[in-house]
Amino acid sequence: MSWDIFIKMKHRIALINISFNPFSLQDLPSVLAIERLSYPHPWSEQQFIDSLNNPQIMADLILLDGKIVGYALSLRAPDFADLLNICIHPKKQRRGLGEALFNRVLQQLQSIKITTIFLEVRSSNQSAFLFYQQLGFEIIDTRKAYYSNGEDAKIMRFQSAIKK
Ligand SMILES: CC(C)(COP(=O)(O)OP(=O)(O)OC[C@H]1O[C@@H](n2cnc3c(N)ncnc32)[C@H](O)[C@@H]1OP(=O)(O)O)[C@@H](O)C(=O)NCCC(=O)NCCS
Repeated sequence: MSWDIFIKMKHRIALINISFNPFSLQDLPSVLAIERLSYPHPWSEQQFIDSLNNPQIMADLILLDGKIVGYALSLRAPDFADLLNICIHPKKQRRGLGEALFNRVLQQLQSIKITTIFLEVRSSNQSAFLFYQQLGFEIIDTRKAYYSNGEDAKIMRFQSAIKK
């Protein structure tokens, strides 16, 4: 499905051509390239392969003018989901694409009656933290030395306004 969406930017309004696709193994080279540009500790190819082979994982792509510019993976449980990874190409950030992708994921989860989303974010990842906060996520816990480099994780929760 292709959507023409008006996205408000700081000082202008741009018409951009966004579409969403399921993320499958054939998309891995494009996704890995974005992942490696975006994270100091990127997921390995095997992590993506294992995720794409897991039927509980929902994996989505966002495309801009037909080109992959981001992706999201979420793990579904009966009553909630974990947002495992959401990423937008560094050159395409701050245009509303991350928010559009999150809204797509949220819509899909709501359609299967999931209204609570959890995630973990590195304490050093201030831009992701601000992004999640702006979407309505709240910090519910901190896990000390959660990551292999000793870094803490903030645990955040999003509760959709739509009741089950
Ligand atoms: C986090 C991420 C997905 C956000 O994607 P994005 O497309 O840039 O986000 P949006 O343009 O939709 O931003 C929506 C709002 O979130 C907030 N936000 C997003 N990035 C921000 C930043 N770097 N600093 C401050 N606020 C930010 C702002 O309020 C922004 O609205 P504004 O641009 O009108 O001020 C993107 O920065 C990214 O891919 N980062 C690298 C991967 C990553 O860290 N993922 C999260 C793993 S936990």
